[in-house]
Amino acid sequence: MSGLPKIPAPVRTDFLASAAAARLVAREGVVACLRGMAAAIEADFRRWSAFDKSARIATHSPQGVIELMPVSDAEGYGFKYVNGHPTNPQRGLPTVMAFGALADVATGMPVFLSELTLTTALRTAATSAMAARWLARPDSRVMALIGNGAQSEFQALAFVGLLGIRALHLYDVDADATRRLVRNLAPYARAMGFDLHPCATAAQAVHGADIVTTATADKSRATILAADAIGPGTHVNAIGGDCPGKTELDAALLQRAAVFVEYEPQTRVEGDIQQMPADFPVTELWRVIAGEAPGRRTPQDITVFDSVGFALEDYAAMQFMRHRARGAGLLETLDLVPALADPRDLFQRVAEADRDPAPPSAATLCAGVPA
Ligand SMILES: NC(=O)c1ccc[n+]([C@@H]2O[C@H](COP(=O)([O-])OP(=O)(O)OC[C@H]3O[C@@H](n4cnc5c(N)ncnc54)[C@H](O)[C@@H]3O)[C@@H](O)[C@H]2O)c1
Repeated sequence: MSGLPKIPAPVRTDFLASAAAARLVAREGVVACLRGMAAAIEADFRRWSAFDKSARIATHSPQGVIELMPVSDAEGYGFKYVNGHPTNPQRGLPTVMAFGALADVATGMPVFLSELTLTTALRTAATSAMAARWLARPDSRVMALIGNGAQSEFQALAFVGLLGIRALHLYDVDADATRRLVRNLAPYARAMGFDLHPCATAAQAVHGADIVTTATADKSRATILAADAIGPGTHVNAIGGDCPGKTELDAALLQRAAVFVEYEPQTRVEGDIQQMPADFPVTELWRVIAGEAPGRRTPQDITVFDSVGFALEDYAAMQFMRHRARGAGLLETLDLVPALADPRDLFQRVAEADRDPAPPSAATLCAGVPA
């Protein structure tokens, strides 16, 4: 052992369950959470060089993708497990499901385990709005929202709450999805004073929009918008083209636009720019936030945020949710790592368990032992 002083490290893992996360967001307000999370994510984008970054590790199947997303700085390590299975709703499961953890870099102790399905929707919307604050025209008031699934309410409220959007043009190939979105947003529209307009086609939704958000799910090289449907001055927030073979935008639109990405090595493989040559020019968003690169240059520019979701956003979102949930008394404590009187005597844990009031059955103790 080294000469490190023997300080008992807390053997305690905070846990945020999905019901507790939902209660937290309901209690604090969706828009307040989105604001707080956007501020936390932007603060970490400003510390970009402090993070050890890598593209996520993806496992593909014909139905979808499962991904692991790690990131760390000097103090903390975080990872997210997330899937994307566009046909899941037909099986009664969400397209996107996630969980993740934070660990202490100094000890490796996992300090926080969390649901991240709701948190991912919040962090994606918060990141979209944060990017649009740097890239969209400041006078943007109308947003088209194409793809009205699980992410859509969060996207809508982020742009209303953080950018001042006052009208939403809604389109989905499934009219029921749009009806659900309108039903869920109606009380917010009344309280916050914005309008909802269901549209019959994507082209109709885009007409007159300052910002276009695409949040569709289809594991294919889709082109949900013709390039000429997007007029000068538009900001496109493209979140659904986020893995190899899954795109939303016409390559001709990317050619006409200034394209911004989260982490270039990951987006080259996963984003809409997978359609473009390897030297197609893009700017990492953190450089705009840090003042190292220009964002929108003129009111006539078309800007595209080719979002795929980056681990740093989840790291910031987990820190934010843990902090707020602790304040609200919504964290549980998990028995994830054994608390040991002698850290090298792991076997004592088994012996102690044997003295528990409800000891494991003989069958359990002898499982795998040849008779
Ligand atoms: N960039 C990110 O950080 C990020 C984060 C989360 C989710 N996503 C992606 O966002 C997308 C939406 O996620 P979700 O959880 O809302 O999925 P979802 O399955 O709940 O909703 C997707 C919606 O898109 C609609 N749709 C499919 N094709 C369409 C088309 N051509 N035109 C209009 N509508 C169409 C579907 O009918 C459905 O209502 C997914 O592709 C997901 O992988 C990206």
